[in-house]
Amino acid sequence: MFGNKAINPQKYFTIVTYGCQMNEHDSEKMTGILESMGYTWTDNKEEADLILYNTCCVRKHAEERVYGNIGMLKDLKQRKPDVILGVCGCMMQQKGVAQEMKKRFPFIDLIFGTFNLHNLPKLLEEVSEKKETVIEILDDQGRIYEDVPVKRKKGVSAWVTIMYGCNNFCSYCIVPYVRGRERSRHPDNIIKEVEKLGREGVKEIILLGQNVNSYGKDLEGKITFSRLLRKLDQIENIKRIRFMTSHPKDLSEDLILTIRDCQRVCNQLHLPIQSGSSNILKKMNRNYTREEYLNLVRRIRKEIPDIGLSTDIIVGFPGETDKDFSDTVDLIKQVKFDSAFMFAYSKRTGTPAARMGEQIDEETKKRRLEQLIKIQNAISKEKNMLLKNKTVEVLVEGLSKNNKNVLTGRTDTGKIVNFTSDVSLDKLYGKIVKVRITHPKSWSLTGEMISAQ
Ligand code: 5AD
Ligand code: SF4
Repeated sequence: MFGNKAINPQKYFTIVTYGCQMNEHDSEKMTGILESMGYTWTDNKEEADLILYNTCCVRKHAEERVYGNIGMLKDLKQRKPDVILGVCGCMMQQKGVAQEMKKRFPFIDLIFGTFNLHNLPKLLEEVSEKKETVIEILDDQGRIYEDVPVKRKKGVSAWVTIMYGCNNFCSYCIVPYVRGRERSRHPDNIIKEVEKLGREGVKEIILLGQNVNSYGKDLEGKITFSRLLRKLDQIENIKRIRFMTSHPKDLSEDLILTIRDCQRVCNQLHLPIQSGSSNILKKMNRNYTREEYLNLVRRIRKEIPDIGLSTDIIVGFPGETDKDFSDTVDLIKQVKFDSAFMFAYSKRTGTPAARMGEQIDEETKKRRLEQLIKIQNAISKEKNMLLKNKTVEVLVEGLSKNNKNVLTGRTDTGKIVNFTSDVSLDKLYGKIVKVRITHPKSWSLTGEMISAQ
């Protein structure tokens, strides 16, 4: 389907991506497809013959940015009428959004959803033949396309999708409506992909899925996420395996033991709690209570005491009282997560929570969010302080964004470490080195390299 059918080797393209790693990885796939058609990547929109916006709709803020930025393209299209403008991704998959886009921004050439990015060559052909905006939004077809070329950003780490979609329907979340039902990739295809990445020099794999713990439930045979991890753990050239996201209701004892026992599987877990109040968790349709979550954390820490634990939290869910919020504050103080992504609840049309009464005013949401972030930052700092003067193992990923004389990488537990070294990056890139931590902060650690392994 994706031969080297070069349509024009001189054509340039760029993709602007919003949202999560899933979207970033979809953009890597579209990059692979476009390069196989003879397009070349450019960072410069003025130079591009094709500009794609890969959108996100998980929160309103992401959508507003998309509308704002696409609006600004009108001027570019007037100056360069031949440039092809395309909008795709989760936002387009929502009811009525594609039509609204077309109405508001008639200069857009192409609109497509999350289920048909493999169709990009055909869609671009249609654009060149038609004067009108080409729209193709498909419903969940349940198919997985294995032969899509992927062009990853060159690096030590690579994302590998193990499953698509979500069946959980948390009451606030739009994802199940725009990404469809759970579909697991066949384990043989995942293993082949990881082996190939290992041969190409990738050192770390990040497995992606909305809820990796239900991997395999839709496949024949006895494959589970733990079994998949144990198989991937055998692949020689890969040094580290991470994964996200884990739903607490599906996290098995077997998985805890697998993380503990597998040498390459990192001691890191992203385990979204969303709220510390059982009352709110029920309304969120999360299927666990505060006590069950706390028990789960206890079980995990019993087997893997030094696990790096992160979470997602939403404040201001409909009906959240001061008491519910203080339950969340109390929970984060008890658990002491290494880090947390914290959000104000954002009303998503079409989800059950959007229709609930007792919506919380923006002022209260903002106040609660600020309070929570402040407390969590102090906890993150306190946890990182435990590493002061300790030696940690860091997989070297590149140069620090802020200081080009400083190298950067991550610990096994997922913490970012920026460190000085007498040895240059080209000698250390992709290696695991020992670093002594000198200055722990809330979001990263600073240190100096002691030795390269
Ligand atoms: N409002 C705020 N945060 C949300 N998330 C998902 N939906 C919403 C929403 N409507 C958060 C959850 C999820 C993370 C990826 O985004 O915390 O875990
Ligand atoms: Fe959304 Fe819940 Fe599915 Fe995560 S598990 S993608 S929060 S519905």
